[in-house]
Amino acid sequence: MAYSISDYGAMIADQARMTSYVEALRRSVKPGDVVVDLGAGTGIFALLACRFGARRVYAIEPNDAIHVAREIAAANGYADRIEFIQKLSTEVTLPEQADVIISDIRGLLPFLGHHIPAIVDARARMLKPGGTLIPQRDDVWVTVVEAEETYGEYFNHWRKYEFDMMAAERIVTNTTGWSIKDVTPEILFAGPQLWATLDYSTISDPNAFGEMSFTVTRDGMAHGLLIWFDATLAEGLRFSNAPGVENPTKVYGRSFFPWSHPVELQEGDQVNVRLEARLVSDDYIYRWETTIKSKQEPQRIKAHFNQSTFYGAPLSLASLRKQSDAYIPELNPEGLIDHYILSQMTSQTPLGEIAEQLIERFPGKFARRQDALTRVGELAVKYSK
Ligand SMILES: C[S@@+](CC[C@H](N)C(=O)[O-])C[C@H]1O[C@@H](n2cnc3c(N)ncnc32)[C@H](O)[C@@H]1O
Repeated sequence: MAYSISDYGAMIADQARMTSYVEALRRSVKPGDVVVDLGAGTGIFALLACRFGARRVYAIEPNDAIHVAREIAAANGYADRIEFIQKLSTEVTLPEQADVIISDIRGLLPFLGHHIPAIVDARARMLKPGGTLIPQRDDVWVTVVEAEETYGEYFNHWRKYEFDMMAAERIVTNTTGWSIKDVTPEILFAGPQLWATLDYSTISDPNAFGEMSFTVTRDGMAHGLLIWFDATLAEGLRFSNAPGVENPTKVYGRSFFPWSHPVELQEGDQVNVRLEARLVSDDYIYRWETTIKSKQEPQRIKAHFNQSTFYGAPLSLASLRKQSDAYIPELNPEGLIDHYILSQMTSQTPLGEIAEQLIERFPGKFARRQDALTRVGELAVKYSK
């Protein structure tokens, strides 16, 4: 995910998050320590580590924000103590191991891209035996909620003109992460249950699977599941994103997983949930299966939904076919252009010259030299050393 500098500002502005992180660093960093700031952004944790006495900080960040971080470090007199490395941590080999590795590379939930594999890798290669990982642990919680307003915002317009738009609605019900405005304890239908504990000192599997059974505590219309996490940064140092918590964090939040349609629940009903997060390629696919049984007639299934973010985007049969094992690809016109540019990049040719050759080779494709140079430059940023 590419954050803007203002996004990094919002992370620093999140007082609930920062208060715990600052305290965790203060407790963990001893004078003379080596610290890794994994996913440094604009470098706030690296700066704090220096303030608390770190001898050396390796600030690793692939985003261009690292240049701003470098400037900030210099402005604060830490240029000689912080080494900035513009890469993914998994591509970095450090000259020494660290006493402390600090990171916050989560999203709305801790399941974001390669967050967990990156921590597993850093723990194995960059941390001294007995060193400190911040955070230590995330606990991910689930419950059943009422979210009439949010649900309406996502669905009402599909029905407004009285056409059957189920094809679109079906896709929307398989998406997650919708924000609910007022997450108060009153919207809950049952006490939260622990779905997953991510103990970063031992974790190796980036996937999570859990089954939960909720006994409904009040009557009302329910719309889906609410999921959030509580973080333990160091022993006894926590922050929570639970509904109703005082002074909640702002950059994470709670993720709403809708049901295919709302269900009228009665006190005593049983809601069984099987929930899975699976890292596929660069993203997580969530699957949530919900079975609701009535208290009055326990044999009768009141509702059953089997949902997945896999169905949360229009599926193109053509693109699925193109990803299959037996497909034999042939370059299309755009592929031919990129192929030509990349092949020229292996022969010590300046970008301007490649752009000129491109215009000659693909007449009519680039209206101006600048357009050709932009195309070449984009590939150079992505693929040159
Ligand atoms: C949520 S931001 C946190 C920024 C800053 N540490 C803070 O707490 O304000 C996470 C950052 O981690 C970076 N990141 C994610 N995975 C990474 C990895 N494997 N190696 C290095 N940086 C990574 C992202 O580019 C992003 O800038």
